Amino acid sequence: MTTPSAPTSVPGPRRTSVAFDLTDHRVWVTGASRGLGRAMALGFAAAGARVALTARSAGAVQEVADEIEELGGKPLVLVGSVSDSAAVSSSVAAIRESWGGLDALVNSAGVSPIFKRAELVDDEEWRHVLDVNVTGSFLCAREAGKLMLEGGGGAVVNISSIHGQVGMERMAAYSASKGAIDALSRTLALEWAERGVRVNTLSPGYFETDMTEALRGHRKWRGHLLSKIPLGRFGVPEEIVSAALFLASDASGFMTGSNMVVDGGWTAA
Ligand SMILES: NC(=O)c1ccc[n+]([C@@H]2O[C@H](COP(=O)([O-])OP(=O)(O)OC[C@H]3O[C@@H](n4cnc5c(N)ncnc54)[C@H](OP(=O)(O)O)[C@@H]3O)[C@@H](O)[C@H]2O)c1
Repeated sequence: MTTPSAPTSVPGPRRTSVAFDLTDHRVWVTGASRGLGRAMALGFAAAGARVALTARSAGAVQEVADEIEELGGKPLVLVGSVSDSAAVSSSVAAIRESWGGLDALVNSAGVSPIFKRAELVDDEEWRHVLDVNVTGSFLCAREAGKLMLEGGGGAVVNISSIHGQVGMERMAAYSASKGAIDALSRTLALEWAERGVRVNTLSPGYFETDMTEALRGHRKWRGHLLSKIPLGRFGVPEEIVSAALFLASDASGFMTGSNMVVDGGWTAA
């Protein structure tokens, strides 16, 4: 009987002693003017990362940039729509020009403007949600991905939703868009893994942001939502931040094509 040889250790390509370190990481956050995107942008800046901010509202995104400057950062402000291919290309050109590369993209820009039964959703409403949530995430991932592939690695964090996995009545377009983001993330993960770019999805449950305000304040739907959340409350935007930092950093270096859920327990049922 032969004795098996001692296992050889396979060094990780990006192993560091402080894997959660984001100092000087170059991070692009879309949807950074409000809500979860704003909280994540501030979280990255507080962790020492360089941050680029995108949203359509110049004034609101500048206010977030001002907050980051107060933390000692020098954010890039890249105003435009994520579903506008030319605007996305020029944003990535500006990142290349300023930073020479990119370490992480957080695709948080998204919309959920419709809450009605599927048979009442018109073509324009359907296309708008798919255009921003799916096409926008793809365009940013494609252009940022090229820059990361050139640089030999990086991380894409696509903000999806629990409704990519579990249905929700009156949210046909939104659920479809988030399911598409989940599938897109897995495919990008496979395509880019051997070239060092990891792609993961981060799926929030219900958080206290503008997007959910009407439902959270609704006489009937508020109770329905809370009944689905074992922790018995909505999340606050700061509670998504550490998951995003983890997925964007080397601490998650062996994760790609995964979906991390932060939902107060909704999908455990
Ligand atoms: N809040 C939740 O409970 C929850 C749950 C699950 C998933 N999510 C997801 O998390 C992400 C952030 O949601 P949130 O709650 O923070 O939403 P929010 O408060 O409504 O903020 C949305 C952000 O996206 C930006 N945005 C919208 N359309 C855009 C476009 N075409 N181009 C560029 N930026 C655009 C908005 O800025 P401008 O309007 O200035 O462009 C804003 O910064 C979304 O993808 C959402 O689907 C949220």
